[in-house]
Amino acid sequence: MPEKALETVLGGFVLLGLSFVGLSMSPGAASAESFEEFKTRMKDAKVLAMERHLKALDDRYDLSDDASKTMTMTHGKPIQEGVRVKLREVVTWDELAEMSPEEIRKQDFFPKGFMPLPHPNPTEGGIVFSKTLIEAVEEQEGRDLSRFDVSFDIPERFQPEFPPPLFLKTRPDLGDVSRSRLITLSNYRELFEGIINAEQLEGLRLLLTPFPQQQFNATEDRRTEDPSPGVACFDCHVNGHTSAAIQSASSTRPREPSRRIDTPSLRGVDIQRLFGSQGDMKSIEERSEFELETAYFDGDAEAAKRKDAHIPQQADEVRLMAEFQKLIDFPPAPKLDASGKLDPEKNDDEAALRGQELFFGKARCATCHTPPHYTDNQVHDLKVEQFYRPGITTSQAAPTNGPIKTPPLRGIKDSPPYLRDGRLLTLEDTVEFFNLVLGLKLTKAEKKDLLAFLVTL
Ligand code: HEC
Ligand code: HEC
Repeated sequence: MPEKALETVLGGFVLLGLSFVGLSMSPGAASAESFEEFKTRMKDAKVLAMERHLKALDDRYDLSDDASKTMTMTHGKPIQEGVRVKLREVVTWDELAEMSPEEIRKQDFFPKGFMPLPHPNPTEGGIVFSKTLIEAVEEQEGRDLSRFDVSFDIPERFQPEFPPPLFLKTRPDLGDVSRSRLITLSNYRELFEGIINAEQLEGLRLLLTPFPQQQFNATEDRRTEDPSPGVACFDCHVNGHTSAAIQSASSTRPREPSRRIDTPSLRGVDIQRLFGSQGDMKSIEERSEFELETAYFDGDAEAAKRKDAHIPQQADEVRLMAEFQKLIDFPPAPKLDASGKLDPEKNDDEAALRGQELFFGKARCATCHTPPHYTDNQVHDLKVEQFYRPGITTSQAAPTNGPIKTPPLRGIKDSPPYLRDGRLLTLEDTVEFFNLVLGLKLTKAEKKDLLAFLVTL
């Protein structure tokens, strides 16, 4: 290679590296940039980044509106139908299922939508809230949860219903105790006094209280227009469920592009034995403390100090938060019996009954998703990487998937989008995903039956 050309290549490289660092640099850090200048630069960068990201989403998914006329979430929001992940080439799903992982990898046939979904701004990472949540919290609490450097990416129709209902283990007789409202500091007493005890009420107050976080804080190293009091646990785990907010997994290497994680529901969290999708924590208390001190600051202890992290003074605060979380129940599943299964004697939904047979038989789902809550409380490595070549994903991070905890499937129709990073938009997508990843070779009719069973859970 002539020297000149090499220099250009190297130059390009260095430039790229520089802009990478430059983008993520906060105001004041090794530069004379003011907060206003920083904001303007980040806003400009956002336009381009979001354009690129939305184009990538369009490449991965069919985002059109195809709301079910019959299937709804617990409070009536229609479920979006159909497989939304786009096929790569002129192969059908059935043809793809006939191919071996090696063939699929060699020909780059693995659908992009089955690969890790990147954070909408992988360089910056952090928490990103949906427009729905931002507007509701602004209206009710006067807190602004929007960021100037990134906006939320998944259309509202693929998000959980809002505000989601909340069911308590101790008071199933009451049904939805949120009474269809967003639970916040301004109404929690009115809603919960006399229903739960004083400790649980205090735990709930703490779950609703905003605490400083990496992007939402009062320093100039923040991503909100105005100084922010922070985020509350229930901004993400709204009404004990999920608002579809995303965050980046705290990485041990600070400036590594972030991996995206979708907020899991806290419904039924007490039946779990491992906490966090990698199953590395053993109690709700441990996880709650981790959120406040570590996850909130992308694992950056220095930043946590600088931005006034709320370090729970007494272990008591975390214990009280856990007291309330342990009350959060799954939504009712009227068709299931005490063992968590459909009783053929009492059910006339033939498709769901056939789906149940498949779930426990040919489709092998029950080897990991065991009733009554449809989790074995173990981690499994689905080895998704065997289907594609590294570096081919649209994500800069291109993370491996690794061992992940089996999430419970009780109430699953209420929790789109699916998988740890929310890369699958519909339950049909999850059926195609497992059909391929587990090599099940299900027929079209069998896939339909399996779906009919999943929505009864
Ligand atoms: C981004 C918004 C967000 C906020 C704010 C948040 N969480 Fe989480 N929470 C998550 C995500 C994402 C995970 C999954 C982490 C993982 O996959 O490792 C999680 C996991 C959990 C879990 C484990 C659930 C499970 O199924 O394993 C608990 C318990 C929990 N959070 C409690 C809390 C508490 C308590 C607070 C407030 C101190 C809080 N969270 C604040 C997003 C959030
Ligand atoms: C080897 C164990 C295993 C088997 C078998 C299995 N799953 Fe899963 N399932 C998992 C794990 C682990 C995850 C989480 C993966 C992730 O987030 O990347 C998961 C996630 C899911 C999700 C998304 C849950 C959520 O909250 O986002 C659905 C739906 C699902 N599985 C359905 C099925 C169906 C249907 C079958 C049978 C066709 C099946 N699974 C078979 C382990 C398994």
